[in-house]
Amino acid sequence: MPKSVAVIGLGRVGLPLALSFADRGFRVIGVDKQERVLDSLRAGRMPFEETGTQALLERVNAAGSMELALTAQDAAEADWIVLTLGTPALSHIEIDIADIRSVIDDLLPLLREGQTLILRSTVAPGTTDWLAGYLEQKRGLRIGEDFFVAHVPERIAAGRFLEEIASLPCVIGGVGEHSGEKATEAFEPFGTEIVQTSPVQAELAKIWTNILRYANFALPNLLMMNCEQYGANVFEVIDLVNHDYPRGGIALPGLTAGTCLRKDFAFSEERSSAPGMLLAVSRVHETVPLFLVEGLRRRLGGSLKDRRVAVLGLAFKRDSDDVRDSLSYKLIRLLERELAVVTRNDPNVPAESEPLEEALAGAEAVVVATNHSEYEHLLAKLPDGTLVVDPWNVTGAREVFTAAGDRVASGP
Ligand SMILES: NC(=O)c1ccc[n+]([C@@H]2O[C@H](COP(=O)([O-])OP(=O)(O)OC[C@H]3O[C@@H](n4cnc5c(N)ncnc54)[C@H](O)[C@@H]3O)[C@@H](O)[C@H]2O)c1
Repeated sequence: MPKSVAVIGLGRVGLPLALSFADRGFRVIGVDKQERVLDSLRAGRMPFEETGTQALLERVNAAGSMELALTAQDAAEADWIVLTLGTPALSHIEIDIADIRSVIDDLLPLLREGQTLILRSTVAPGTTDWLAGYLEQKRGLRIGEDFFVAHVPERIAAGRFLEEIASLPCVIGGVGEHSGEKATEAFEPFGTEIVQTSPVQAELAKIWTNILRYANFALPNLLMMNCEQYGANVFEVIDLVNHDYPRGGIALPGLTAGTCLRKDFAFSEERSSAPGMLLAVSRVHETVPLFLVEGLRRRLGGSLKDRRVAVLGLAFKRDSDDVRDSLSYKLIRLLERELAVVTRNDPNVPAESEPLEEALAGAEAVVVATNHSEYEHLLAKLPDGTLVVDPWNVTGAREVFTAAGDRVASGP
């Protein structure tokens, strides 16, 4: 009988992982409280885009190696129980562990000695030790001896799951003496380097992986706003910084957000001894939509009332269909508060989108809110004089604000 793994929470993290366990020979129980998700999987359809997973789902369904269930209790028999539940941040700058707590409370009476509980969700430092303490307190289990708890954070980028589950080092923070070994047994079939550490170090490593990116992208965004003040071209300044210089480099500006980057820094701020530094990073990113709207307003003669503006890109990330916590919506809200007439397009989010030609028709200005590859040839599709706002430089315009004809004539 193959060993069994239950994955609770079949979202963007849990579902590809559950399918990958099934593909590596485990018997998998996939649990999600949303009937809609289970229906889609039974019908052989991935509920979201993730490279290669549609074919994998079809393979797993054909092999019958993943059962689906609606309640956490159905997961209780598995050798490993992996939690991939959402962990938002509360407005109090504090992790919201309500989903994890509710699932644990459902599982509590059913847990048995020898099982391993793996926390795969991103959590604030100390959460794994809290979970172990909670199980000890409620069930008298000796964690690390007769029941095992580990944090195995997910550091895979959306769109690259299948490639990175088999290539990125796997960080495991086990509680007590033997939890790390038990969690390793579940992850070693993926064949990557396993790095054992303490739970709190695993938690910190995950959130600081994201904080590094979030802080990194704040610098070009701040520079973009600075350049506007001085009438300088941010892309030229970035080239000057990076050109043949051996010590590091600066990224390009853009609308930086998304469900992970926007909240994971708050897990560090929860108990930060440098209060405010990461909040300042967040403020820079959150200011970019307003910066773009104000730049647009100034260039369109001081008012956006009744002006037609096309917003291109709703997903928070290039070539993704994930719109959670995308700044595109904040940009649209701000434009609407200027009484602009806003059209929108995203090739990956058709339900909320107009076809590109329709969105562009009659637009006086076009804002590239997401750097989708579909927008690389945008300039050639626009009438001369259309104001193009492209903080990513996906169009090759090499100016945050530019008029279409100028650039088409001279080329990128
Ligand atoms: N999305 C990413 O790219 C990414 C990357 C790294 C880490 N993470 C972290 O991984 C975790 C999961 O993220 P996600 O994007 O997959 O979230 P998600 O919201 O897409 O998925 C969570 C799933 O859990 C289900 N769920 C909630 N309560 C449940 C319950 N009581 N019983 C059964 N199912 C339940 C929801 O229906 C949902 O399908 C989060 O902590 C996130 O921060 C996400």
